Amino acid sequence: MQALGIDIGGSGIKGAPVNVRTGELLAERIRIETPEGAKPQPVAEIVAEIAKSFKWKGQIGIGFPAPIKRGIVMMAANVSKKWIGLNSDELFSSTTGCACKVGNDADVAGMAEMAFGAGKDQSGTIIMLTLGTGIGTAIFYNGHLLPNTEFGHLKMKDEDAEYRASAAARKRDGLSWKKYAKRLNNYLNEMEKLFWPDLFIIGGGISKRHENFLPLLDLQTKIVPAQFQNEAGIVGAALFSQEK
Ligand code: BGC
Repeated sequence: MQALGIDIGGSGIKGAPVNVRTGELLAERIRIETPEGAKPQPVAEIVAEIAKSFKWKGQIGIGFPAPIKRGIVMMAANVSKKWIGLNSDELFSSTTGCACKVGNDADVAGMAEMAFGAGKDQSGTIIMLTLGTGIGTAIFYNGHLLPNTEFGHLKMKDEDAEYRASAAARKRDGLSWKKYAKRLNNYLNEMEKLFWPDLFIIGGGISKRHENFLPLLDLQTKIVPAQFQNEAGIVGAALFSQEK
């Protein structure tokens, strides 16, 4: 069983065909820059271009950086506001000519980690966080996802946590790893107090460099990097396309 997994991010749109039984990428992923402003039609056209490059005709799963209910985009923090209220399943399906199913990017990345990665065979409360342009959260209890949680928007010092502790915030503010780890620690401490999780899984592009900041954190909860690192979004999107 295969599906094309697409991960739409603030800076890049990535995709690859995935074996949904094993979580393996079946070809090298393609990455195209997210078009300026990330408006609906230009983004959909990039997804269609990626599908075309793989001569794809089957199902497509898409991780999108916003809460999504039955395909409808509910809010837009890091993409154009034109997405709000739009049926994204329909937009991507009509533009690509393939059946598309869209879910929140962090939720689908979490699904990949729970199925095949750092959360495999783990029970209790597990929080997957994606640190990228924003902060995405996916919360699982005994393997069940509570969808569309938006704890990247938790307020810290009157600002959204993602504004202070995302990977983009580290770059924007030119933070050393030590300073960045301190901000992330404050945020994760807050999350600990709210959820008492058993495990944090850290994903997003920055997770490739986990050795630079995970050892600097001082938390009660065990914390590990995502096993798929930056590919969790692609694998999870493909898995999500198979859900009823
Ligand atoms: C969005 C979330 C998304 C996260 C990571 C946030 O700004 O509101 O829906 O999961 O960024 O992309």
